[in-house]
Amino acid sequence: MVWASVIQPIEMGKDKLRKFRENETFACLIQPRTDEVLGAEHPLKGRWGEQMFHNQNPIVLELGCGKGEYTVALAEKYPQMNFIGIDIKGARLWKGAKYATLNKMGNVAFIRTRVEFIESLFAPGEVSQIWITFADPQEKKAKKRLTHPLFLNRYRKFLAPDGVIHLKTDSRLLHFYTLELARCNDMTVLEHNDDIYGSGRADELLSIKTFYEASFLAQGIPITYMAFKIDNPRPLVEPDWDQEPYEQKYKTLTRADGHVTSQLE
Ligand SMILES: C[S@@+](CC[C@H](N)C(=O)[O-])C[C@H]1O[C@@H](n2cnc3c(N)ncnc32)[C@H](O)[C@@H]1O
Repeated sequence: MVWASVIQPIEMGKDKLRKFRENETFACLIQPRTDEVLGAEHPLKGRWGEQMFHNQNPIVLELGCGKGEYTVALAEKYPQMNFIGIDIKGARLWKGAKYATLNKMGNVAFIRTRVEFIESLFAPGEVSQIWITFADPQEKKAKKRLTHPLFLNRYRKFLAPDGVIHLKTDSRLLHFYTLELARCNDMTVLEHNDDIYGSGRADELLSIKTFYEASFLAQGIPITYMAFKIDNPRPLVEPDWDQEPYEQKYKTLTRADGHVTSQLE
């Protein structure tokens, strides 16, 4: 027992180091240096189509992609589009990058960076959609939520005018917070559903399961989804938000008969 507890972290550390070394060899994995993204413009900004994918197909991002399950699955389904997964954790990205490399997927890339630096990586209009999959809800630090106005302000600098953001999460806090944020900023909510499997909404696209999603589902936690646009050009404000009352309000709207409403009243 004593040896196991000593050896296990060493083995885990070795495995991470092996993955980090292999990450250096993947052409599809970009690992920007801090000086390339901190108050700077990354050399690929505005040139992803030309230099990474060698085509001008639409680009879709997955933020906080972890092992990249959505990125890879979407790329397999939509060969006429390009997909880029972003995460800060190199050992997780290794899995997606390895898969994409082994399968010679020309429409997949990964970036190891913090989403906070995303403006340094993409030019205006360069991205057509964003998926945010099972992001940390940051219960106590709203400003770190990937749908906080600080982040949405960054995304709208490079999202195409008709660009859509897809948020899939187990976190009712993140789901309802984002719905309320969209409502109080007059953004278009294309769809919202607070139990995609229970309501039968999980089609081929929405039933792609990430690593975290599989574990939440095994615990019986409902999975939520919403799709929205940042189509308000004005400065974005934070919702004056209190979790409980809003959760009740939205539950009534979406849960009554499993019907999916497309508008917030
Ligand atoms: C709960 S995991 C979900 C991973 C994956 N989407 C899934 O569903 O399996 C959240 C991921 O977001 C990444 N992440 C959180 N905040 C981030 C940030 N500001 N910049 C980059 N990655 C971030 C973490 O490293 C982690 O891999």
